[in-house]
Amino acid sequence: MNKVDSPIGVFDSGVGGISTLKVLATMLPHEDFVFFGDSGNAPYGEKRREEVQRLTDNAVQKLLKHHIKGMVIACNTATSAAKPMLIERYPDLTIVGIEPALKEAVDNGARNILVMATPLTLAMPKFQKQLHLFSGERHIETLPCSGLAGLIECGAQRLDDVRDLLRRLLSTTSGTRFDAVVLGCTHYPFVKKLIADYIPSQPRFYTGYEGLTRHLTHLLGDAKLLRTSNPDRHIEFLSSSVNPHETDLYRELFTSSFESSTQFGRPYTYLSISHE
Ligand code: DGL
Repeated sequence: MNKVDSPIGVFDSGVGGISTLKVLATMLPHEDFVFFGDSGNAPYGEKRREEVQRLTDNAVQKLLKHHIKGMVIACNTATSAAKPMLIERYPDLTIVGIEPALKEAVDNGARNILVMATPLTLAMPKFQKQLHLFSGERHIETLPCSGLAGLIECGAQRLDDVRDLLRRLLSTTSGTRFDAVVLGCTHYPFVKKLIADYIPSQPRFYTGYEGLTRHLTHLLGDAKLLRTSNPDRHIEFLSSSVNPHETDLYRELFTSSFESSTQFGRPYTYLSISHE
């Protein structure tokens, strides 16, 4: 297969990456995608850095078997723990990774910012450097959300538990009237409305997905790897989970989120689900 026509690989610890995939698929309307969710090993956010690096490397190996032309780490935790290692290990592969969109919130003039992410993402030097850089004249608060990604991974059946956990977590914040909330974990956009229920100041939410997609588009464009047409778009979902409920959830979340924003793209002609 011509490399230009190869799919883009997208990876997350589980269902979270589907929220990123939605934006990638709408902003890159001629591309095929292979999504791998490591739901069998989720959540990552409370694991050790070395373990996340090992799992992320396994995910790249798996996606390379699908002849991907570029790789999106749709997981803030995996990006902060493993991206430099991957870039060193796979110098010929275009790799981008999602990170908490703190800079975007700052660039938009936010003064009181809440960053919600996994404990590992917030503890990593990459995020700590950003925090140091942007604190000062503005108030930036971090909220490690232990357990939240794991509950979202279970889908709608754990929504009451998600609500309880959010109420507990958000009651520990300072009570500042936040004007921006950075969703620094790709699982969280699926419960954005629930989060908003506990933050009365009606903040603007930031995910960083558009910036990530623009960055990928730029890199693939420079490498002459962007498709300009594709009459029969494909997307493939792979999961490390043996529970069929997981892949149903991938499809459900992608289809519903994708259908709600078709203004950027066209529907896929093919959806396939398989366990790996
Ligand atoms: N969705 C991932 C992130 O963006 C990881 C969540 C987890 O597995 O703990 O950080």
